Amino acid sequence: MAGFIGSHLAERLIQMGRHVVGVDDFDDYYIRATKERNLLTLRRDGRFKFVEADLAASDLSHLIITNCRLFHLAAQPGVRGSWGPQFDRYVRNNLLATQRILEACLRSPPSRIVYASSSSIYGDQPPGPCPENANPNPLSPYGMTKLAGEHLVRTYSKGYGLPAVALRFFTVFGPRQRPDMAFNRFIQAIRTHRPLTLFGDGRQTRDFTYVDDIVSGIVAAAEEEVAGETFNLGGGSPATVLDVLKLLEKLSGRSVEIEAHPPGVGEPRATWADTTRARTRLHYRPNVSLAEGLRRQWEWQSTEPLAS
Ligand SMILES: NC(=O)c1ccc[n+]([C@@H]2O[C@H](COP(=O)([O-])OP(=O)(O)OC[C@H]3O[C@@H](n4cnc5c(N)ncnc54)[C@H](O)[C@@H]3O)[C@@H](O)[C@H]2O)c1
Repeated sequence: MAGFIGSHLAERLIQMGRHVVGVDDFDDYYIRATKERNLLTLRRDGRFKFVEADLAASDLSHLIITNCRLFHLAAQPGVRGSWGPQFDRYVRNNLLATQRILEACLRSPPSRIVYASSSSIYGDQPPGPCPENANPNPLSPYGMTKLAGEHLVRTYSKGYGLPAVALRFFTVFGPRQRPDMAFNRFIQAIRTHRPLTLFGDGRQTRDFTYVDDIVSGIVAAAEEEVAGETFNLGGGSPATVLDVLKLLEKLSGRSVEIEAHPPGVGEPRATWADTTRARTRLHYRPNVSLAEGLRRQWEWQSTEPLAS
């Protein structure tokens, strides 16, 4: 809840007049100060309660109330870091934590569980928009754990009738984007007049999705009659990384210097969400363009402390 998407979701729920209990353990994947800043507005609101707890270890029984709406976004994200010695973090935070939440839900069943999954479960797919019934083909240990998390949620739903929904987010961007994500790193490099690190030739495409649009989809998944279903949440207009760099050159008024690296292992060449199902069942309508969303992220990062 103190992370990138979770903090935006909590703010939206508060704006809607809900009471929110946010749980986070301030995992050190990125610095606590950034996550504390994400919580600043929320902590000032009497309807928000924050609990610092590790979902993979703490007693969760007092955190889950019967008939609450439970949004499970806590995870160890990142494709590159999921290879090698950190794999245990992915298993712990993406699988064990999910299993413990589901067990706690059996004692006090929520009226809805929304599980944050990822486009990473698809890997490489035939060209064109990818529907939810495509064959999952994760290319990284991260994608594998997110898919396993989905399966775990479905297993508990089938076994015990828990009303769960899985949402597959496609590359999310906007203010508070995680510091390891490409737009954040690019903007940071431009602000500090350093070359920016580019993995691959820049022609890989991503279905970039603005964070407020993702939040609208998450909220709808908790409100509509869609228990048991799975949805893609994408921005709808894929762009290449080179397109993004051009937009950043325009925003910054500078030309970017690129430090080229080989493509990251486990990164698909293209992602593109077929959002027909979300449009029909969740009335999902992404409406912030890449250019406008990038402008908002640029503005936000201009007020953030520069990382060294
Ligand atoms: N950002 C994206 O583009 C994207 C794309 C697809 C899916 N997702 C999924 O969306 C969710 C949110 O992603 P994000 O980008 O906001 O990441 P984030 O890292 O900013 O937020 C995740 C939060 O979970 C917390 N956390 C991790 N393990 C925990 C544990 N054991 N107990 C308590 N808290 C724990 C972290 O401290 C962090 O604040 C994740 O499930 C991620 O897999 C994100």
